[in-house]
Amino acid sequence: MVEIAILGFGTVGSGVAELIDKNQDKIRRAVPEGVHVKYILDIREFPGSPYADRVVHDLDQIVSDPQIQVICETMGGKEPAYSFSKKALEHGISVCTSNKELVEAYGSDLMETARANGAGYLFEASVGGGIPILRPLRTSLAQEEITEVLGILNGTTNYILTRMERNGEAFDAVLADAQANGYAERNPAADIEGHDCARKIAILASLITGKKADYDRIPCEGITGITAADFAAASALGYAIKLLGAAKKEESGSWSVRTAPFLVPEGHPLYPVSDVFNGIWLHGNMVDDLMFYGRGAGKDATASAVVADVIELAQGGGKAPAWTEEKLPLSDGASQKSRFLMRLSRAEEEAARLSFENSAGEDTLTAVPDPDGILAAANETALLTGIISEREFEDRTAGLQLHGRIRVL
Ligand code: HSE
Repeated sequence: MVEIAILGFGTVGSGVAELIDKNQDKIRRAVPEGVHVKYILDIREFPGSPYADRVVHDLDQIVSDPQIQVICETMGGKEPAYSFSKKALEHGISVCTSNKELVEAYGSDLMETARANGAGYLFEASVGGGIPILRPLRTSLAQEEITEVLGILNGTTNYILTRMERNGEAFDAVLADAQANGYAERNPAADIEGHDCARKIAILASLITGKKADYDRIPCEGITGITAADFAAASALGYAIKLLGAAKKEESGSWSVRTAPFLVPEGHPLYPVSDVFNGIWLHGNMVDDLMFYGRGAGKDATASAVVADVIELAQGGGKAPAWTEEKLPLSDGASQKSRFLMRLSRAEEEAARLSFENSAGEDTLTAVPDPDGILAAANETALLTGIISEREFEDRTAGLQLHGRIRVL
């Protein structure tokens, strides 16, 4: 029997224990001796739980047990998850995690510690919930030069945007539902302000390039400023609004990486990705376009990804570090180009048109239709720019009072 321990018995940790029991027969096809949860580390007790007798409160009891081969860290947050993972790896115990905050910040350190101690460190569940994406990138796509990845990487915000768009529901009510379903982070600001998505695109960019994409240098916007007027303008143009993590290799060799809400056109594979589902679209130089789709959050789906790592580690895999401490060159966000949808008061439309005139004095803005009169009722107008850089957009709108602006994919 492969003996394992779970650190943190919350939504994901309890899902891991339950999945291992429920699907033990399936697991034995990959790990014939079977997988057994020997310890659960938590500061709490769980009276009445079928796992109550396995709960311990001291990591040393786990790492000093020579039977323990794999630890699942499902605690979340940087500490004590980092210290506990490091200690386990230094004892030669392989670790897998769903903790994107830890992987983004200390992934290369922990992977190097694993390598130095003959152990493995894997983190499939840290990106895309239940979607197998990191393993395909490490294995099936190892031969590819991936030049672009676009992802709907946060289930909570996709759930909120979908319900606001379809039913016109209020932001706060939908967020409360997402929390009740176990989708949201303990502090949902990480979801709605875009930080969770930015961490995941940083992990994807690092894995794809083998160099560390610094989360701190990734421009990041969330969805708190998205309003019913944005949905009205988007739908009039045939777009959906999605929070995306976007990473693209530029001709210079640098990567442009950003997290922000984008208008996604109807024909794009990410357009129909709704509710808690995530989608990851990528382009490889030989395989061309690929799309991965599945549940981006929630107990069972995330536990499934964690147990996939347990199986690979039990088989002796996961030992090659996916990236090093070397920094991935990131381009200046101000030079990134796109079209922008902007909303502003009708009184400012003329000033906006003058500000966006081209050198021949021609108006370069396109008015967005308002078939249901939603913008007019708010005394607003929505205008679409041509393809311009972030810097040019900021310069041309410096004298305007924008009510909102969203990039177009
Ligand atoms: N809060 C995260 C989300 C959980 O909503 O996507 C999965 O990483």
